[in-house]
Amino acid sequence: MPYVPGEYWLKHGRTYKDDFRYNKLFELQERVLIDYLKQNTTSFTSVLEIGCGFGRITKLILTNFEGISEYYAIDISPEQIQNAKQLMKDKKEVFNNGLNLDFAVGDITSLQIQKKYDLVIAAEVLMHILPEDIRDVIHKLVKSSNKHVLNMDWYEEQRPKKAAPHNFVHQYEMIYREFPEVKRVSRVPISKKGSWLRSIDTKQSLFHALVNTP
Ligand SMILES: C[S@@+](CC[C@H](N)C(=O)[O-])C[C@H]1O[C@@H](n2cnc3c(N)ncnc32)[C@H](O)[C@@H]1O
Repeated sequence: MPYVPGEYWLKHGRTYKDDFRYNKLFELQERVLIDYLKQNTTSFTSVLEIGCGFGRITKLILTNFEGISEYYAIDISPEQIQNAKQLMKDKKEVFNNGLNLDFAVGDITSLQIQKKYDLVIAAEVLMHILPEDIRDVIHKLVKSSNKHVLNMDWYEEQRPKKAAPHNFVHQYEMIYREFPEVKRVSRVPISKKGSWLRSIDTKQSLFHALVNTP
C-alpha cells in the first residue's frame, strides 16, 4: 500500500493511544530530551509542538519546565487531538494558572504559522514526512522559532536498506544548515552505553537547531 500521510494518520490516530506501549526506549528518549533541554536551552516561555499525538511530550514538557505561558500543539489526527485534550484536562491548574494551552487539528505541510515560538518541537513526526516535503516543513519550523527547533527521529548514519513505507531517514543536519536563520545544529544519539544487557540504542537522534533572533 503506498503511504498517503493524511489517510495513514487519520486511520492510525484512531488506535494510536490504545496501541501505545511505554517501554525503556521511550523512557530513555524522554530522559535525553529533558536533560538536553535543561542543559542546552535558556528559559523558554512559548512552545509550538508539531504532531503532538495523544500529548505524551506535551505533558512531559509542561511537567518539567516552569514559566511556560503559551503552549500550542497540533496534530493531523482529530482523534489524537481529542486524546491529548483529555490527557491534559484538569492539569492546567497544576502546571501554571497563567498557561494558555491550546490544541488544534492541522497538517504541518499546509499549515500557516502566524507567530514565532521560543521552542518548536516535533517528536517522531518528521520521520513520517515525505522526502519531497521535508525541506519545506523544516524551513517552516525554523521560521516559526525565535530560538530553538528540536526534533527527535529515527536516524542511522548507514542508510538502512529497508524501511516501512511511512518511515524515512532524512538528513536533518544538512537540511537545517541550508537555512540562513540557523546558527548552529547539534545531533545527540538517543542511546545508552552499558554492559551488554544494559545498552540501549533507540536508533533515534535528537536534533537541535539554534535559530538567529533578528
Ligand atoms: C509516531 S506519532 C508521535 C506522537 C507524539 N509526538 C509522541 O512522540 O508521542 C506521529 C504523530 O505525528 C502526527 N502527524 C503525522 N504527519 C503529520 C502532519 N503532516 N502534520 C501534523 N501531524 C502529523 C500523527 O498524527 C501522529 O500523532
